[in-house]
Amino acid sequence: MPGPQAGPARRRAPGIAPQASVLRLLAALATAAVLAASGAREAAPSPGDAEGLQSIYRGSRAAGGRGSRAHEPLGPAPSARPQCDASPEYRFDCAPEKLVSKEECEARGCCYVPVVTPGPGTWQPWCFFPPGYPSYRVQNLTATETGYTASLARATASIFPDDVMVLQLDVLFETDARLHFTLRDPANKRYEVPLETPTASSRAVSKLYNLQFSADPFGLIVLRESSGQVLLNTSVAPLFFTDQFLEISTSLPSRFISGLGEHLTPLILDTQWTKITLWNRDMAPVPAANLYGSHPFYLVMEDSGAAHGVFLLNSNAMDVVLQPSPALTWRTIGGILDFYVFLGPDPKSVVRQYLDVIGYPFMPPYWGLGFHLCRWGYSSSAITRQVVGNMTAAGFPLDVQWNDLDYMDARRDFTFNQRSFPDYPDMVRDFHRDGRHYVMIVDPAISSTSPPGSYKPYDDGLRRGVFIQNTTGQPLIGKVWPGPTAFPDFTNPETQEWWHDMVKEFHDQVPFDGMWIDMNEPSNFVLGSVDGCPSSKLEDPPYVPGVLGGSLRSATICASSQQHLSSHYNLHNLYGLTEAIASHNALVRVRGKRPFVISRSTFAGHGRYAGHWTGDVSSSWEQLSYSVAEVLLFNLYGVPLVGADICGFTGDTSEELCVRWTQLGAFYPFMRNHNDHGSQPQEPYTFSPAAQKAMRKTLLLRYTLLPYLYTLFHKAHVAGETVARPLFLEFPTDPNTWTVDHQLMWGAGLLITPVLEPGKAKVSGYFPAGTWYHLVTDTVIHSKGQWILLPAPLDSINVHVREGHILPLQEPGFTTTESRKKGMTLVVALTADGFARGDLFWDDGEGLQTFERGDYTQILFLAMSGTLVSELLRVNSQVDGLLLQKVAVLGVPSPPQHVLANGALVDDFSYRTDTKILTILLSLPLGEQFTITWA
Ligand SMILES: *[C@@H]1O[C@H](CO)[C@@H](O)[C@H](O)[C@H]1NC(C)=O
Ligand SMILES: *[C@@H]1O[C@H](CO)[C@@H](O)[C@H](O)[C@H]1NC(C)=O
Ligand SMILES: *[C@@H]1O[C@H](CO)[C@@H](O)[C@H](O)[C@H]1NC(C)=O
Ligand SMILES: *[C@@H]1O[C@H](CO)[C@@H](O)[C@H](O)[C@H]1NC(C)=O
Repeated sequence: MPGPQAGPARRRAPGIAPQASVLRLLAALATAAVLAASGAREAAPSPGDAEGLQSIYRGSRAAGGRGSRAHEPLGPAPSARPQCDASPEYRFDCAPEKLVSKEECEARGCCYVPVVTPGPGTWQPWCFFPPGYPSYRVQNLTATETGYTASLARATASIFPDDVMVLQLDVLFETDARLHFTLRDPANKRYEVPLETPTASSRAVSKLYNLQFSADPFGLIVLRESSGQVLLNTSVAPLFFTDQFLEISTSLPSRFISGLGEHLTPLILDTQWTKITLWNRDMAPVPAANLYGSHPFYLVMEDSGAAHGVFLLNSNAMDVVLQPSPALTWRTIGGILDFYVFLGPDPKSVVRQYLDVIGYPFMPPYWGLGFHLCRWGYSSSAITRQVVGNMTAAGFPLDVQWNDLDYMDARRDFTFNQRSFPDYPDMVRDFHRDGRHYVMIVDPAISSTSPPGSYKPYDDGLRRGVFIQNTTGQPLIGKVWPGPTAFPDFTNPETQEWWHDMVKEFHDQVPFDGMWIDMNEPSNFVLGSVDGCPSSKLEDPPYVPGVLGGSLRSATICASSQQHLSSHYNLHNLYGLTEAIASHNALVRVRGKRPFVISRSTFAGHGRYAGHWTGDVSSSWEQLSYSVAEVLLFNLYGVPLVGADICGFTGDTSEELCVRWTQLGAFYPFMRNHNDHGSQPQEPYTFSPAAQKAMRKTLLLRYTLLPYLYTLFHKAHVAGETVARPLFLEFPTDPNTWTVDHQLMWGAGLLITPVLEPGKAKVSGYFPAGTWYHLVTDTVIHSKGQWILLPAPLDSINVHVREGHILPLQEPGFTTTESRKKGMTLVVALTADGFARGDLFWDDGEGLQTFERGDYTQILFLAMSGTLVSELLRVNSQVDGLLLQKVAVLGVPSPPQHVLANGALVDDFSYRTDTKILTILLSLPLGEQFTITWA
């Protein structure tokens, strides 16, 4: 299926389309094949090299010979003394790759002005570009049907080797709100991310943006049409486009910038000289380190409350530098510069416009929204069964039981231990019989040392050529849990087929429901490979981004290793995504139902195929607190199915921490408690009766809210919305909301204010102007837009319904299989003038493409002037038997005399003058239109 189409009116769902990703990948492969046919150049494969796309890389070669001049840095003519009076926050680094002396700096034609570092952990460039520093100049800017093209040329070599001396700039007005521009080498096809993106059909007419160019040196300026606000100005520093160093800088209109994951950061990034590195890595989350995923996308709030976003479609290792002027520098070591600018004008639209390019999220199965329980150390099927039994006995909901590595035979994928898990298939069947589901871990790396003929995944993989190869053309061998391993190359269509075959064969034995794909950065316990890595320009590029460990091979495989589409140097950040695509598609084919895949490594576009958990977080209050921002950020990245390991993975939790974490975790879109093997047990049933009671209460609250949550996922899937949402998405014109990342919203209608610190029985939360109804305690807040201190005893979490919203709820059960059949409630939170609205999306909860096939029910609810009506947009048989049993109307000013349902008097209603809540008990089929009035 093609990617989303261009056009402002577009709302079509890209869909979960089982074949979509195969096609997308095939489209990429077809492109590579064309390149293969036309590429006749004899040169060392390199980050930008098309030949690198289809042939095995045959060893390193000296850099150079790419049409650039000899590497002689040439500054301005000696007579033109550089002007070096820029104030420190406006200085752009002229020596990003090393410390330079005054002489070296001046030899580059740059300014050398030492500055005292303002504080620990910060730095500022001492060697920086003067204004007018030589760069590219615009040669022949031409307006086209859909934008502009131009040639950019540079006259002198830059400070890095292998300049591309002539560039092609293409500016495309793709939609009124989406501007797309690329900088490429017109002479040599370089590596480009194989993501199929939408194209413009015709020139946008009422654009939200204006463009200006600066001719010499080249600069591109993007302004907001309505206000004249400058959103991008790349004139602030010179452009670099060399073979392995591409850099472009821009001013930012404000310091409220969010995104650029995956890192352990607050929602709003720090612009005080921050270097953000994107290079996927197995690393327990700590601030400032490159972590598991890469999302080169940011969103900026402008002073007016308008927002814009920028996406750099580039998968190479990169740094993004933020500085206080404020400004941002993109610094990547390969590929091309391929930018999308999203004009919003509101932040919700920015997210949707981004997802128009990378794809809307997949629709998870309903059971995937239930409670998941896991730990490394459930050492047998007997223990795993005990866990489920103990959860049931203690009265906790549990939808999905998981196993970590323990189930495997010698930690090898697609095997199970016949001694400790003798009844493994039956265990899974028994879970199914009780309405539960089962997920197990699968790592990408395949054990390479089993005797030939004894381990099919490796034998078959070898025969079918699915593994990533080293520079001498053999499978690259690293080390992961089973010991020596080979790494499947998921950019190879044959690997996608092989993966499917392995998933199918295992599923034929063990009828699992979902896959937990871990270690897919890919993680490697040795540097590069068991044979190390050869030295080459890919292994040792002229500029190494700020990766942990100081080299690209740190904790992963050699950058020089060769994949079907290109070098690992180019494809590394796509490893988790390509494995997620393979796993998603395999599950669709094998189970014929909606797939469930949770992945550690991610890249832009991941949400279309899978969810994410935030990795190996420790059991600490700090990690609990950060998890709110991480979950919100992944929603901005189009990966709404996200959560952190509840109670923390590494280290021992405390009872209080685990209670608070379970309360917040009940509002992660993906809710899983997962624990390390060495730590104290942290299953809900292992705590004191009081703690268990608090956890039970919060779990049941989540289950009650699942119809609302599921409807939010539907809107994410069909309309590019977020599920867990930062306050600023709903209240962009209230700047107080912009930095709030200790609270989250579910959709537009629910505000959650968790306790994130120990020893607290009160919590402060920001409440935008309006009325907020506590979902549990029936208290009401009338806010002027203010911080409010709320009671927060250990057994509760603050959850407020926003005025004007109707939430569909359901009586909880111990599984979603059970709860999906129970009675429904509508919570109607009225505005002061008596208005509210909401909706419900309902289907079988696990069928493929139910929305796309029209096999669902969708109901709108509208309350106004003392009347609540439902409107059935679509009905299918899944809604049969679902009964509306209760309506709670919040904010009814005076006691009604009577209540009518479809014209008939309702006896069973009550009204409380203190809380102003009208409660109506009834029994109406949800699948039939109804009218309820009170007066
Ligand atoms: C732009 O100018 C360069 C050299 O001046 C020329 O080679 C190129 O064809 C021109 N491109 C267009 C689109 O006119
Ligand atoms: C863009 O930046 C350059 C360099 O700082 C500056 O001279 C110019 O005025 C800026 N343009 C706009 C429209 O802000
Ligand atoms: C389940 O509960 C029993 C009884 O309290 C306990 O002995 C056992 O260790 C528990 N099993 C697990 C895996 O927690
Ligand atoms: C490639 O891997 C093979 C083992 O699969 C090894 O023998 C060979 O030395 C490796 N080549 C390099 C360059 O590391």
